[in-house]
Amino acid sequence: MPVRQLDPATINRIAAGEVVERPASVVKELIENALDAGASRIDVLTDGGGRRLIRIADDGGGMTRADLALAVERHATSKLDGDDLNAICTLGFRGEALPSIGAVARLAITTRHRSRVYPTSVLQEGSKSATADFDSRVYPTSVLQEGSKSATADFDCGEPHAWMIAVDGGVKSDIRPAALGPGTCVEVRDLFYATPARLKFLKTDRTEAEAIRDVVRRLAMSRPDVGFTLAGEQRAPVSWAAALPDAAGRLARLGDVLGAEFRANAIPIAAGRDGFALEGFAGLPTYTKANALSLYLFVNGRAVRDKLLLGAVRAAYADYLPRDRHPVVALFVTLDPHEVDVNVHPAKTEVRFRASGLVRSMMVGALREALVRASGRAASTGGAATISAFRPGSPRASPPPYPPPLAGEGRVGAARPGQAAQAIYNDIPQSADDHAARSGFESGAQAAFDVGPPSGDARGAAIDDPEEIDHPLGAARTQVHETYIVAQTRDGVVIVDQHAAHERLVYERMKSALEKSGVARQILLIPDIVELDETDVERLVARADELARFGLAIEAFGPGAIAVRETPALLGEIDSAALVRDLAEHMAEWDEALPLERRLMHVAATMACHGSVRAGRRLRPEEMNALLREMEETPNSGQCNHGRPTYVELKLADIERLFGRR
Ligand SMILES: Nc1ncnc2c1ncn2[C@@H]1O[C@H](COP(=O)(O)OP(=O)(O)OP(=O)(O)O)[C@@H](O)[C@H]1O
Ligand SMILES: [Mg+2]
Repeated sequence: MPVRQLDPATINRIAAGEVVERPASVVKELIENALDAGASRIDVLTDGGGRRLIRIADDGGGMTRADLALAVERHATSKLDGDDLNAICTLGFRGEALPSIGAVARLAITTRHRSRVYPTSVLQEGSKSATADFDSRVYPTSVLQEGSKSATADFDCGEPHAWMIAVDGGVKSDIRPAALGPGTCVEVRDLFYATPARLKFLKTDRTEAEAIRDVVRRLAMSRPDVGFTLAGEQRAPVSWAAALPDAAGRLARLGDVLGAEFRANAIPIAAGRDGFALEGFAGLPTYTKANALSLYLFVNGRAVRDKLLLGAVRAAYADYLPRDRHPVVALFVTLDPHEVDVNVHPAKTEVRFRASGLVRSMMVGALREALVRASGRAASTGGAATISAFRPGSPRASPPPYPPPLAGEGRVGAARPGQAAQAIYNDIPQSADDHAARSGFESGAQAAFDVGPPSGDARGAAIDDPEEIDHPLGAARTQVHETYIVAQTRDGVVIVDQHAAHERLVYERMKSALEKSGVARQILLIPDIVELDETDVERLVARADELARFGLAIEAFGPGAIAVRETPALLGEIDSAALVRDLAEHMAEWDEALPLERRLMHVAATMACHGSVRAGRRLRPEEMNALLREMEETPNSGQCNHGRPTYVELKLADIERLFGRR
């Protein structure tokens, strides 16, 4: 085929493919436009996951008739002053969003320009090559288009009324007078009707609506001084009032968006260096999530997914969080626009820093410093496992729960698993851990070698029963650190991680119960009411049937809570709030396409984790042996559900080699 120039409609559709990936991208672009237009209030309404309708109204500066005509053309923007791509202070700069949306949907823009009087300086500047014409006036927000630099000026700057234009699958209508107060209202209907291939890739309305919500939340976080409402999709409208753009206002908005829990568990962050400023709030290490979706990062007000920044957050929290937990942060980096390139991603969600090392080190430093400062505070809610990871048992509130790790010292004190688990079982005698804690905190260097007395001793019991020793996993001899069972076999030593092992057993039991008669339930006398984010409630309720198969009966309890009526009997006494929260967080990460089978296994795994003998529980000799025997009979018991080994074995020969006997 010969090379030929594509026609504009095709060009626009191709471009649209990059800019408009899903309904949420449209919402993002339109809200960004409203923010760039100086809006103080933005109302968002969507329907059908944004596929049927997206309507965004703002009270910003609006557009003149001339601006409106150009705004729907490609590469037409009012936001680039000349050709300087190096100092972008607005969210938009490409002049791509509106034409892209118009190419793939039915777009209608109604707008009324706000001011009627302009500073004379602007008019003088603009009148360099004046040819007065109603359709192409120069205003401060005027749209510059390549090739149309011959700006014109008109001294009658007022707009007597609003104007409206429609773009239907790339076909533009005439501009017509319309009725609207100052500001702009953009309506997008039938998204992707012009590109059916893209339509097929959209997920369910609920998932798309959730993505929209996430976009609105992020943008709302970035601008506490702007009021937002979000309505439609058959749910109660949300409205966030404008607050002052100071730290208090920011925290108020973050509280609105992320929930009161975040507010109660947030540490303020403020740092500045060499023209960089970092501010925002970081969640306490004891307030964590099972997924990494709550890392909110902004650069010059732009929500970004930046690997450098994400890495910095992870590095700062590394010493504080268990491996499978994630922090919650909302951090805002401000720097000279010359220092950051925002033109690196079609959806403008990535940036490149000129001095990336500096940004990273400032971020890690500020977060670490704040975490050390806050080390006396523990999360006010949830995450018992996490709390315990950093805090010894309750009677010992001081000295500081987790001293900052010193170089070369290794992980000491509270980071040790035996102690980690202690707080969960505060009712268990603490002598062993007290000892460990003291040695850990007061003389870190020795802690690694001081194991403390065993926490359960089965020697007497096992010796009486010589048969046990013939089993593959041997006879339980003792439990150390209230976490590990040490067993003796005929020709070696086996060390079992009791939590990992039990988790696997519960998981396997659940699976087989599911295959047979279903999981037995245990009815709670008083239902547990668990308060959750609305999205989480929706997610759980949508899967209530699947959960019921596991013996977990839940139902919505108002918009922000769930009532747990029954729990799986084989989990025993569990913290149903923690279980439900964990389930919701895992579900947030599920791909729409995840097959039912896999989903069920995920649920089983999460439940198994909650129903397991936690590390830190003292086991009686017969309990230890029972666990070993059950492991021997259960398939896959050599690994926990997360792929970690549940036991390790040292052969006598290996031990002898260690001691140079062989
Ligand atoms: N809500 C609005 N209020 C006032 N002017 C607007 C609004 N939306 C768009 N405009 C005007 O239309 C122009 C084109 O908008 P469009 O979103 O297509 O491009 P952009 O924002 O300049 O760049 P980008 O493609 O990066 O978003 C803008 O530069 C702006 O002048
Ligand atoms: Mg834009």
